[in-house]
Amino acid sequence: MDLFVIRGGTPLSGRLPVRGSKNAALPILAASLAAEGETRLANVPALVDVTTLSAVLRTLGVDVHRDADGMLVVRSESNEPCVAEYDLVRKMRASVCVLGPLLGRRGTARVSLPGGCNIGHRPIDLHLRGLASLGADVRLEHGYVVATASSLLGAQIDLAGPQGSTVTGTCNVMTAACFAKGRTVITSAAREPEVVDLAHYLNAGGARISGLGTDVVEIEGTDGFAGVEHQVIPDRIEAATLLIAGLMTGGDVTLENVVPTHLTAVLDILRQMGAFVEIRGATIHVHAAGPLSSVSFVAEPYPGIPTDVQAQLTALLTLARGKAEVVDRVFPDRFLHLPELARMGADVRRAEGGAHVFGVKSLSAAPVMASDLRASAALLLAALSAEGDSILRRVYHLDRGYERLEERLAAVGGQIRRLTEAELSNCRPEELFSDHAPVREPHFAVTSPKSRGSRREQSL
Ligand code: UD1
Repeated sequence: MDLFVIRGGTPLSGRLPVRGSKNAALPILAASLAAEGETRLANVPALVDVTTLSAVLRTLGVDVHRDADGMLVVRSESNEPCVAEYDLVRKMRASVCVLGPLLGRRGTARVSLPGGCNIGHRPIDLHLRGLASLGADVRLEHGYVVATASSLLGAQIDLAGPQGSTVTGTCNVMTAACFAKGRTVITSAAREPEVVDLAHYLNAGGARISGLGTDVVEIEGTDGFAGVEHQVIPDRIEAATLLIAGLMTGGDVTLENVVPTHLTAVLDILRQMGAFVEIRGATIHVHAAGPLSSVSFVAEPYPGIPTDVQAQLTALLTLARGKAEVVDRVFPDRFLHLPELARMGADVRRAEGGAHVFGVKSLSAAPVMASDLRASAALLLAALSAEGDSILRRVYHLDRGYERLEERLAAVGGQIRRLTEAELSNCRPEELFSDHAPVREPHFAVTSPKSRGSRREQSL
């Protein structure tokens, strides 16, 4: 199992391109199984989650590969298989995104229920209710969702849950509704840019979806949609993470390839804290003009501050002046990063529905454990800002959502080594950041070690 050794204290400085959005790529990739003909996706990040969903699609008779230009090329070779097995789905909840496309195109979907999740209770009742409203027979059998329909019928569907709408649920119902007879109206639809990106892909292939980016989405049923070429939007969560990394290290960072309007709520809070934020076209430049001040915030569905940035902002607040209250309305129990941040000297306390963060002057390096994707990002940021060497274990969480993050941060001055436990115990501390230190590839990448630096990404 890989870990990171992080030598903190170096301000990050320079330009960083942002990769394509994981959370946009996954539902689009899932929907492409239902497309007539070939889909070609540009800007799909090389992540473990993309590899996992590609494996799910292959078991469903879909050919998925990267071409020489790095495009992800997808084509359904068979309309027969309809089963997404537990062994793959349990690795990644977003596999549930195949449910709507399978039901719409193939009339049957048998998809394993994803099971538990570290960030809190994550039911899929709204997905199932939505598909049932379209006329599908939906049952739970032996840990699987079994949905069948000889034909789907447009309907009025409300996707409001106790914590707001559902992102992947909206994707599932919207995609299935492309195959329904007549008009479907989804109220309380998720407004996230990733849902809009999926709708753009579907519409380009002939679907008729309107109300994009609002909470009322209308779908005129057609015979489905054709495969098209589509460019996935930049990852706003990665962008926010990198901006916060720049600020936490007292650095000066310019992000390229971003859609600044997708980050309005995050940029607002950074400005309120006292950060310098400048937007120019598709770039965002940040630096801390002086010490940052604490600002309380609530993580909410889009256009609010994303729950996927809550942990990173909480990490930033540990170094701000004053006290802040953090509430996560989407996943109220998503605070597993707090005890680990406390191990690094942060003054953080769990409170009803959230956390209280009292800023401290500095954090101190420590061994810490990642519990989930965004918590690991928060710990990495904290370690980059702390004096000394921290060890971040279970970085496989990070690899699910950030492409080669350690290498990209190294390009702007971050000192991070990826090692195994065995390599760590065989490496003297003074060697860790020398040229003799072992160099490891993320395990999901198939690359030639000889071509490091000029290599061509072969993984999905
Ligand atoms: C997506 C994102 C995830 C992000 C989350 C919230 C992907 C692949 N993942 O996850 O990174 O953290 O949105 O922005 O895009 N809920 C129900 N019933 C349901 C479905 C959800 O009650 O049927 C609840 C959830 O428990 C949660 C809230 O609704 O409290 C939002 O969840 P949802 O938007 O569905 O999250 P995901 O789509 O799984």
